Amino acid sequence: MIGVFDSGIGGLTILKSIRAQMPEYDYLYLGDNARAPYGSRSFEVVYEYTLQSVNYLFSHGCSLVILACNTASAKALRTIQQNDLPKIWNESRLERVLGIIRPTAEVISNYTHTNHIGVMATRGTVDSASYPLEIHKQSPHIVVTQQACPMWVPLVENNEHRGDGADYFVKKYIDQMLLKDNDIDTLLLACTHYPLLLEKIRKYLPQHISILTQGDIVATSLKNYLYRHSDLSQSLSKGSTCTYLTTESPEKFSQLASIFLENPIEAKHISL
Ligand code: DGL
Repeated sequence: MIGVFDSGIGGLTILKSIRAQMPEYDYLYLGDNARAPYGSRSFEVVYEYTLQSVNYLFSHGCSLVILACNTASAKALRTIQQNDLPKIWNESRLERVLGIIRPTAEVISNYTHTNHIGVMATRGTVDSASYPLEIHKQSPHIVVTQQACPMWVPLVENNEHRGDGADYFVKKYIDQMLLKDNDIDTLLLACTHYPLLLEKIRKYLPQHISILTQGDIVATSLKNYLYRHSDLSQSLSKGSTCTYLTTESPEKFSQLASIFLENPIEAKHISL
C-alpha cells in the first residue's frame, strides 16, 4: 500500500491527484486531525508526531509513505529519511518516505515569466526556509517571497473555509504578500490545506497572478519515481482501494472529505 500522511484533511488535495494518475494502487490515508494544525508547532513536536504517523503506516502494510504536508516535509522528512528509515527497513530495504517540497521546487521556474514567485505557507514551512533554499538550488535567479498564513489551516479544519468569515483572513495575507513584492506573477499554495480556499484566494488575488497548487506536480513526480524504482512499485499492492484514518472524529473527517472528494467516504478512528 501507499501511505499518504497529513496533519489533517489537507493531504487529500494531494491524494486526489495521485489517485487520478495512479488509480491501480491501494492507499492508506492518515490525517492527524486531533493534533492539527502542525504549522505553529516546534521542530521537535512536528518530527515526533510525523514519525509516529509514519511508523503507524509502515506497521499497517505501507512500504511507501508520502508526507502530503509541507510542514512535515520541511521539519521532519530529512531526519526520518536519514535516522529512522534504516530502523524501519526489513530485509528487502524497499521502504521509502517522500516529501512534497523538492518535487514542487524542481518545476516551479517553468511557471513564472517575471521570475518573482510568492509562497503562501504555514509559519513552520516559512521559518524553515525550505522553499527559498530548494528553489535557489535549481533556479538561483528566482525571487521568492514568503507569506505565513496561520489562520488558513484552522479555517479549513473547522469547515469555515467557505463561510463569510474566511474572506477577512484570505484578503489579509494576500495583501501582505503583495505589499512585499508586487512583481509576483505566480503564487504557490505551499500548504496542502490551501487549495480548499481556492475560490476565495482567486477572489482577492489580481487576475494576472496565476495560482499553483501541488497535487498534479506531486502526482507526476511520484509516477516518475515509481517508474524508476520498479522493485518498489512491484511490491505495492494493486487493488484500487483507499482507506481513510483520522485521529479525531471519523464523522467530522468523513463529512469534510466526502465534500472535497465529491464521493462519499467513511473514515475510521485510530489513536497514535
Ligand atoms: N497541510 C499542511 C502543510 O502542507 C499543514 C497544516 C498544518 O498547519 O497542520 O503544510
